[in-house]
This record gives sequence, structure tokens and C-alpha cells, in this order.
Amino acid sequence: MSPLAEIREAPGLEGYLGDLEERLELAVGAYRGVVAEVGAEALAAGGKRLRPLLVYLSTPPGAPPPVVAGVAVELVHLATLMHDDLIDGAHLRRGHASAWSAHGPEAARAAGDYLFARAFAEIAATGDARAVAVLANATLCLARGEALQRSQRFDPDTTIDAYLERCTLKTGKLFEAACRLAGGSGSFGLALGVAFQITDDILDCSGVTIETGKIAGTDLREGTPTLPLLLAAHRDEAVRGALAGGSQLEGALLRVASTGAIEESREVALAYARAARACLNGELHREELESLTYAVVDREH
Ligand code: IPE
Ligand code: IPE
Ligand code: MG
Ligand code: MG
Repeated sequence: MSPLAEIREAPGLEGYLGDLEERLELAVGAYRGVVAEVGAEALAAGGKRLRPLLVYLSTPPGAPPPVVAGVAVELVHLATLMHDDLIDGAHLRRGHASAWSAHGPEAARAAGDYLFARAFAEIAATGDARAVAVLANATLCLARGEALQRSQRFDPDTTIDAYLERCTLKTGKLFEAACRLAGGSGSFGLALGVAFQITDDILDCSGVTIETGKIAGTDLREGTPTLPLLLAAHRDEAVRGALAGGSQLEGALLRVASTGAIEESREVALAYARAARACLNGELHREELESLTYAVVDREH
């Protein structure tokens, strides 16, 4: 059994995830039309539901795990993926044609907007202004992260710090929000999210489509300076040239692995996973949260 599958055995989690799926479908299908259909298609394609899982595992003793928070974070995530694939020119998502690729950029943009709006309608309906503020802040950070990524495009001299700031904004902050919405440790989520993004960036260099449901090499093709690409670019002129927007992408991607950049990036991801573990302190689901810090860095998808 994969580490993630093992974590999903946590008592009560199956029921939570079942409720979550039902409510996600209702939330996406609330208003009939093209955007709801595009959203429903993306939802049905699956995904790991990692952020709702984090909501569940962050719930303190005695409190009911908030399904609405899980719904809202997954909807924000789904909305982001829709816009992100459009920005990244990525054709495959969750093993299927991405929304823009199947329905065109306008439909994907509108469907993403719709999903953001549905996420906020769900969380606002709880009447919990703090929860709305937490999600709003995370969403703003996501947008800032994507904008920062745009400004770093084709720049092999992007610093590691600037890269890590981008990971914090575009991925860490939503993980942090998932934890905080349930009443858990935000700093755990933040560090876990950065470890997760570094691993995603490694998988973009070395992963296989059948596992990831995405096409490897997108970051290099788009000139997105990820940690493995930056480290490889420091050591290999061909990688540097490709990252700066040159040709010879196929060859360059093969060279990334031979520079040792993958292993070194993995060390950084492991350090963030360790930092996440150090934030844990007697949580109800401590064991599962701890396992999660291993699972996010040891994954093929
Ligand atoms: C992909 O997230 C986007 C990143 C933050 C790297 P996931 O890998 O959690 O995507 P799904 O939900 O499982 O498809
Ligand atoms: C993460 O970055 C995307 C967001 C957090 C929006 P990536 O662009 O690497 O994610 P994938 O690889 O497309 O899933
Ligand atoms: Mg992308
Ligand atoms: Mg990626």
C-alpha cells in the first residue's frame, strides 16, 4: 500500500471524504451552464484531495472535521489548476485533456473564476469571517505566486530564495490555510506545502505521465526556473541555455538528471518535510500528519 493510501485508512476519514465528494459535486453543479460542466469534468478526473485530507487531519480533539473547509480549499485548488494550465500551456491534467485544451482558453478562465466564486460562497455561508479571511489571504498569495513565477520566467539567475518564496506563495499558503481552517498548525502546512512543490518540480523533470497524469518537461519548456532546473543550470550550459528560452529542450532535460540536481533538490524537499514534522506537537492525528510529511516527498504522482 502506498503511504498516502495508508494515511487514508485513518478512522472516520472515509466518511469525511465521501461527504466531501458529494458536497464538491453540489457546489460545482450549483448553477447550470458551461462553466459548471467544465468544473464538473475537472472534479471527476480525480486528484489526490490532499488539501481536504489536511483539513481532516488538522482537526483538534473533540471538534467535528469541517467538510465545508475541505470543499472550499479543494475548489480554490481546482480553480488554480485551471488557470495554471492555461498559463503554463499544459495539455494534460489528472490524466485528461486540461480544461483550456479541451474547451478553449475563455471557457477555462471563466470556469476557474466560477470555481473561485463557488469556494468563497461555500466558506462565506458558514458565517465565519475569520475563515473567509484565511482563504482570501491564501488565494491572494496564490495569485501573487503565479505572478512572481511569470516575472522569473526564462531567468536562470533566479535565486533559490526567490524560488522558495514563490513555492511558499503559490503552494505553501493554501496548505497553511487548510490546516488553519481546521484549527491546526499553519506553520506545519506551510513547510509541508513547500516540500510538496519541490517534489512536484522534481517530478516535472523525472516523473512519468502514467503516474503524474501530467506531461514532464513543462517547466523547462515554459522557462519556469524550478529548483532542479536552477541547480542544473548552475552546472550545465545546455540546461542554462534551455531554461533561458533556447532550443534543444529534450537533450537538456536528460542532462538535468546527470548534474545531480534531482538528488540535491530532494535533499531540500526532505529538509522542509523535517521542518514540518518539527511543528507537530500532540495533535489528534499526529501519526498520520507525520506520515504525510514522508508521503509528500516519496511519491510518484
Ligand atoms: C498540483 O497539485 C499543483 C501543485 C501545487 C504542485 P496536486 O498534485 O495536489 O494536484 P491533484 O489535486 O492531486 O491533481
Ligand atoms: C503549482 O505549480 C501550481 C499552483 C500552485 C497553482 P505547477 O505549475 O508546477 O503545478 P502543475 O505541475 O501544473 O500541477
Ligand atoms: Mg502548471
Ligand atoms: Mg509542476
